[in-house]
Amino acid sequence: MDRTIRIGALISGTGTNLQAIIDSCESGEINGKIVFIGSDNSNAHGLNKGTLLGIPTFVVNYGSIIRNFKKEPATVAPPDDFDLNDLISKQTLFNADAEIETVKAFIITRAVAEAKLIDEMRHYPFDLLVLAGYMRNLSPYFIDRVNTDPDIPRIMNIHPALLPAFPGIDGYGDTFRYGCKIGGCTVHFVDYGEDSGPIIGQKAYEILEDDTIDSIRAKGLKLEWALYPECVKLFAEGRLNTVRRSYELKDGGKMQKTVVKIIQSPKD
Ligand code: GAR
Repeated sequence: MDRTIRIGALISGTGTNLQAIIDSCESGEINGKIVFIGSDNSNAHGLNKGTLLGIPTFVVNYGSIIRNFKKEPATVAPPDDFDLNDLISKQTLFNADAEIETVKAFIITRAVAEAKLIDEMRHYPFDLLVLAGYMRNLSPYFIDRVNTDPDIPRIMNIHPALLPAFPGIDGYGDTFRYGCKIGGCTVHFVDYGEDSGPIIGQKAYEILEDDTIDSIRAKGLKLEWALYPECVKLFAEGRLNTVRRSYELKDGGKMQKTVVKIIQSPKD
């Protein structure tokens, strides 16, 4: 791609990964620019970066939607274009044993919040959406409205562990408590599950005897700041393809998986 890509960002906290991406855009390493910064947290420190740099920002308060639903479900109206059964059948965040009421409450409240996100984002057309420390799982309602072509994913996430190990909210803590000797970080495209989408890139660090959760977080974050811009750059260069692979397993079963193929140039 020769053109400058438009990057939207969603954050929940400090925004150091967002800063790394902004720096790489400013230095010309990534041919891109940040067109909005959205958050689920009005106190997210990273929102100040937008204000300082003149990048539009907005906040969607999931907390009040979830509280209202718990108090009085009937007062929380799902969006007009909402299909509960379709969304429940697509999502893979909950397994088959999960209470159906829990799954419904999740899907309805997220779709309401996500419709507000989409309303905000509508003002700022974008090519790529980066989740940079965004601590909310996205439902199929949102994902399908961003990935309008299912074969061209355009939501990226960074996760503080070597996926598929330790998905969830505390990747560094989980890695440390397990006693791993190596930890790392992963950038992946977002699919309907929790941190389960096609992996774009990973970096690893060694965990030594005298390491603590804080020291491994520091090692990991340093790698995140290098990895995320590298992956965004590959996207901007049109070098990320997703391909569906099929495998025969030893027990005679079959497995299919969508994986990322990094190509040398967009013509390959
Ligand atoms: C990062 O470590 C990122 O990997 C993690 O949150 C931190 C955000 O830091 N993300 C997740 O855990 C997502 N599940 P930052 O706000 O300074 O970029």
